[in-house]
Amino acid sequence: MGETTQFIVREMKTEDAKEAAAVCKKCFGKHGAPRRKFLEDAAWSWRHRFFVAEVDGKIAACAGARVAEFYEDYYEAEKKNAYVEIVAVDPNYHGRGIGTELFTKLIDTLADIGVKSVYLNVHPANTPAIEFYKRFGFKYRSLPEEYPEQAAMYLMVERQWTRNSPSEQ
Ligand SMILES: CC(C)(COP(=O)(O)OP(=O)(O)OC[C@H]1O[C@@H](n2cnc3c(N)ncnc32)[C@H](O)[C@@H]1OP(=O)(O)O)[C@@H](O)C(=O)NCCC(=O)NCCS
Repeated sequence: MGETTQFIVREMKTEDAKEAAAVCKKCFGKHGAPRRKFLEDAAWSWRHRFFVAEVDGKIAACAGARVAEFYEDYYEAEKKNAYVEIVAVDPNYHGRGIGTELFTKLIDTLADIGVKSVYLNVHPANTPAIEFYKRFGFKYRSLPEEYPEQAAMYLMVERQWTRNSPSEQ
């Protein structure tokens, strides 16, 4: 772990969207980053769970997932899965534990609401992210055959919960 930085992790609010979008743009570039409007919507959408990390009152990281079937099967927790849409830590703050705490908050929250499996896409050349996800128990999963050619450059990683959610304990 690198330098120590004080930060807090909290739920993303609509008013955080502008700064969160700027962090994503720094990480993924103009074309790969989600737009501010997407993040604004995700902040209040009940199908999404989004969190930010704040350093000195400024957004330094953002992570969030979309819970599948959330609105259809609210009480059928065993069917739930979630797709991680964004994990982005401002490059100025990499290696300080922010990503770990933020992503822990996200997946713990998903587990708490009954999500049983989480999946995401990561570029095979993105070693820091792959190492990061591995530490959370994510594993490679082969892509479905129907995946379009250009998507084959992404690996799908999935985590199945190995522990019960609090409601089942
Ligand atoms: C991947 C990412 C979220 C990690 O966030 P972070 O705050 O730097 O991560 P942490 O400081 O909590 O590091 C936790 C662990 O991640 C792994 N990791 C992080 N950066 C790494 C790097 N450059 N090389 C190898 N492993 C790395 C390590 O296992 C590290 O543990 P260590 O500090 O004990 O070595 C961050 O690098 C990032 O935002 N990258 C750009 C956006 C991106 O690629 N997102 C994922 C898209 S799928």
